[in-house]
Amino acid sequence: MVEDSLSPAAITDGLGTRFIGQEITCYPSLPSTNDMAKQKAQEGAKEGTVIVAEEQTAGRGRIKRRWLSPRGSIALSIILYPPLDYLPCLIMVASLAVTRSIEQVTGLKAKIKWPNDVLVNDKKICGILVESDVRGNKVDYAVIGIGINVNLEVSDFPRIAPMATSLSRELGRDVSRRDMVQGLLAQAEKLYLALAAGDSVFRQWRDNLVTLGKKVQVSSGEATCRGIAESVAADGSLLLRQPDGSLLKIVAGDVTLRR
Ligand code: BTN
Repeated sequence: MVEDSLSPAAITDGLGTRFIGQEITCYPSLPSTNDMAKQKAQEGAKEGTVIVAEEQTAGRGRIKRRWLSPRGSIALSIILYPPLDYLPCLIMVASLAVTRSIEQVTGLKAKIKWPNDVLVNDKKICGILVESDVRGNKVDYAVIGIGINVNLEVSDFPRIAPMATSLSRELGRDVSRRDMVQGLLAQAEKLYLALAAGDSVFRQWRDNLVTLGKKVQVSSGEATCRGIAESVAADGSLLLRQPDGSLLKIVAGDVTLRR
């Protein structure tokens, strides 16, 4: 069994970040780390504070879905107070930080399915939920919630088994969650700080999307549309070329790749 402690001391030891992860609280169990992070943000938690849970009992996904985070997975949320124009970039920061930390720690190649699912060998290994509270043109807080399937047997969870995988399943061995969390927080800070320097994060995110150039079906609320995922805009929207030749801008949705 690899070293697998997710205590604050274990995570901060050698972390080397300026602010992300310098304050950490680890809980054995929480309904949702995002909910706890929002509460802490409202109470004035420091920027970069991280909430970690060994398991979530009511983990939340995008589009009001549930997110399974049993023991062996990573469930964490990062509290930030970004300027308003950073908000659309937070999903880019988070998904790139996850792909990079997976590659750094395990050597596995990870890709992003628009907008921010991380896939390994075409199966979902990580979900990201960014939530924020905006008053007028000021962001009160933003929370980046990240769930990664690390050491778990996805076949134990029939609801997700057909489309999900885990790091341990892909590698045939367990992975240090501490190394993963440290890598993730360090990459997240590097990318977050890079947002001040222009559009390089956007370009890296776009270049890591598996979705572009593919035939896709996009469900957005009640509506479903089909076409070729032609490009993405700087605000993270997907630009879908429809069968009638028109270009549709999709701000939020769920993409299925079609054959
Ligand atoms: C998705 O793919 O639908 C997004 C899943 C996001 C899950 C993470 S786990 C940590 C954080 N806390 C939550 O309740 N959700 C996010």
